[in-house]
Amino acid sequence: MAEISTEQLVRWRRELHQHPELSNHEFDTTKRITAWLQQADIRLLPLPLRTGVVAEIGHGDALIALRADIDALPIEEATSHPWKSQNNGVMHACGHDVHTSVMLGVAHRLRQQEKSLPGRVRILFQPAEETFNGAQQLIDAGALKGVQAIFGMHNAPDLPLGTLKTRGGAFYANVDRFVIRLRGKGAHAARPHEGVDSIVIGSQIVLALQALPSRVFSSLESVVVSITRFTAGNTWNVLPQSVELEGTVRTHNDAIRQQIPQRIQAIISGIAEGFGAEAELDWQPGPPALVNTPAWADFALQQAEQSGYRTEVAPLQMGGEDFAFYLQQIPGAFVSIGSASQFGLHHPGFDPAEALIAPAVDYFTALAPRALQAVAPPESLTS
Ligand code: NI
Repeated sequence: MAEISTEQLVRWRRELHQHPELSNHEFDTTKRITAWLQQADIRLLPLPLRTGVVAEIGHGDALIALRADIDALPIEEATSHPWKSQNNGVMHACGHDVHTSVMLGVAHRLRQQEKSLPGRVRILFQPAEETFNGAQQLIDAGALKGVQAIFGMHNAPDLPLGTLKTRGGAFYANVDRFVIRLRGKGAHAARPHEGVDSIVIGSQIVLALQALPSRVFSSLESVVVSITRFTAGNTWNVLPQSVELEGTVRTHNDAIRQQIPQRIQAIISGIAEGFGAEAELDWQPGPPALVNTPAWADFALQQAEQSGYRTEVAPLQMGGEDFAFYLQQIPGAFVSIGSASQFGLHHPGFDPAEALIAPAVDYFTALAPRALQAVAPPESLTS
């Protein structure tokens, strides 16, 4: 088996980058990953998946998993690289192409040392992270069966190359989405008292909801409420009958998360009723907070130091990550690795440094056997 070179890792990344596919439509991406795994005769698990691949290397009872996400975003790429996206309006603007090439490299490297691996390493190439439903698909397909610990990464454009951060406990946020439908009564703009002005009432709701983080929950807890859409009216001299507000709430504490829908409902009903309008809340729970197992987060940081990374304890993130679903089932840790991009995640100019790939391959290749030793029951270590 040939050694996997840095050039090979970059070639994989660029090929994935040129052919990005949206969540749950990663058909060609899945074919490419499958072919590249099969080149090294890596075992693939026959799981019932439409897109995504699960590979496994090694033998024995001890079993850990590594995860890469493989989907792209509906964004028109604005870089001028020769390897820019060839799919109009679709771009790997979150670096999942980079994550995938890292885990492909790890798969090849572990395959080379398969005989000395103290257990099995399962590598999950997961679809649909951006829509937050890919992890659940893999769980439903049985990808976590027998897995004792799971690890994953995301590149971090604001971190310099060679930096790795994570934290024990809550890391990424609970992500919930909501729509508020407010019905008043339409009227001529010159005679607002004849109607029930849903725009004025909706505006008060926007402001009132901002008091949730500052006046309802402790300032020591993280709560973000953002209204991201306010849709109302269609001309200048008519007060519309109804408005729609849409937005998101981010939290880390599950008890607070559970209280938020009733709190929002109470506020919007109270305000609407005061003016003779009706308000309805459509609450759409998203992925839970990503909660790292403290011992595995420490382990991931220690391994990173040994691999030559500058390490830091990460601050809390308000973004979401569907790796959280795995960590609800089994222990593990998710890490951020610096990608030093001038433009951030989901930006059309996002351009992660490819130099992060080879060190990340070394890191996970070193981490996997040590994690297997740590999960293996003592008797299997002495036998
Ligand atoms: Ni991402």
